[in-house]
Amino acid sequence: MIKFETVIPVFLIIFILSFMFIPGSVIEAEDNEQLEIFSWWTATGEAEGLNYLIENFELNYPGLSVINSAIHGGAGVNAKEVVKIRILQGDPPDIFQVHGGSELQDTWIAGGYLQPLTALWEEERWKESYPETIKDMVKYNDEFYALPVTIHRSNRLWYNKDIFEKHDLVIPESTEELIDTSKKLSDLGIIPLALSSQNKWPISHIFEIILFEEAGQEKYYKLISGKLSWENDSVKSSLKKLEDLFKYVNEDHAALTWSEAAEMVLTEKAAMTIMGTWAGGYYYSRDYVENKDYETIPFPGEAEFFGLVIDTFALPEDITNQIEAEKWLKFVSKPEIQHDFTSLMGALPARMNISHHDLRPYLQQDRIDLENQTIIPSITHGTATREVFISSLNDELNQFLYTNDINATLERLNEIAELFL
Ligand code: GAL
Repeated sequence: MIKFETVIPVFLIIFILSFMFIPGSVIEAEDNEQLEIFSWWTATGEAEGLNYLIENFELNYPGLSVINSAIHGGAGVNAKEVVKIRILQGDPPDIFQVHGGSELQDTWIAGGYLQPLTALWEEERWKESYPETIKDMVKYNDEFYALPVTIHRSNRLWYNKDIFEKHDLVIPESTEELIDTSKKLSDLGIIPLALSSQNKWPISHIFEIILFEEAGQEKYYKLISGKLSWENDSVKSSLKKLEDLFKYVNEDHAALTWSEAAEMVLTEKAAMTIMGTWAGGYYYSRDYVENKDYETIPFPGEAEFFGLVIDTFALPEDITNQIEAEKWLKFVSKPEIQHDFTSLMGALPARMNISHHDLRPYLQQDRIDLENQTIIPSITHGTATREVFISSLNDELNQFLYTNDINATLERLNEIAELFL
């Protein structure tokens, strides 16, 4: 079983020392210095997190202003297209958000578009604060290429406790139970599962969770590395379960974004939704309180795995504001900054030497699970596979949502796997 390594607790010293930096020691910058930050953090929760970074960075460096070039569209569906064009045309932003793992390594680093940051990693002694699993996601041929900032968990079920209590329903622990519970809710006239498909990826997001449950760790790894044909029984049974689940979703899913689907659970328009921990950031920014306004459990609870999603910041080659970009990386790596920023995002801090006892309940549980459960890299959020595979998977599964043609979809999935994995 792949486990998450614990890091030497030099952290207490670093954590205490770091408090000596902010807000007392404001560093002057030359007037009119700028820095462009490119991301897709525009939804409620993630936007608050990004703004927290920008505001505090500007406070810390008076005279330096940040251009926030965030482009809407969860999971970066639109932003990734734009940044690709900009970098290819020689107009890169100074810093951009990119998922750690295959998305970073097999496209950006392998293509030679990014600056190695190994010298900065050494100077800032980041190696001591980040666990091996996370460091591996930003390394290539022994060089570091990005700074990890969040750890999100993909596999969580968010549900409305009142609906479950009122109808005396048991919280589902597996996809099979989820389908059974959905049937009961539907018979009661309640929309069981809030779904959004406006940006396509939430379908792949649910699919990969079912796939892991069906395939198990060994097969899942073989599938994502292209060592096993996608035309196999586990993929087939996952599609069947996905089809069954689709019977219980809101009809207007194609008009909604992930945060609009998350909102449906709080307003009792639906009983549940499956989403990554950024939904927790959304609820937090909306002033909804865990265990009061909503509940959440890792899903499927029985399978005991942690679907890993990592956000990082990377620097393209030949950027305009090199010094300022390095200042940003140093700034966001600070324990107290990463602590507050990730709390707004609904995520865990990517560096380990940060106190987690004051985190919200689900994050405390995720912190424990991260070290004790099987880590499963997310396909949809780039940890496991390259962007070209992800976007093709999104297309195929969204078609499946309407065709329900299992055999044709299996064939197509196998084709894209053979082409892109
Ligand atoms: C993920 C990303 C999260 C959050 C989410 C929804 O891919 O890692 O930070 O932005 O998409 O947009």
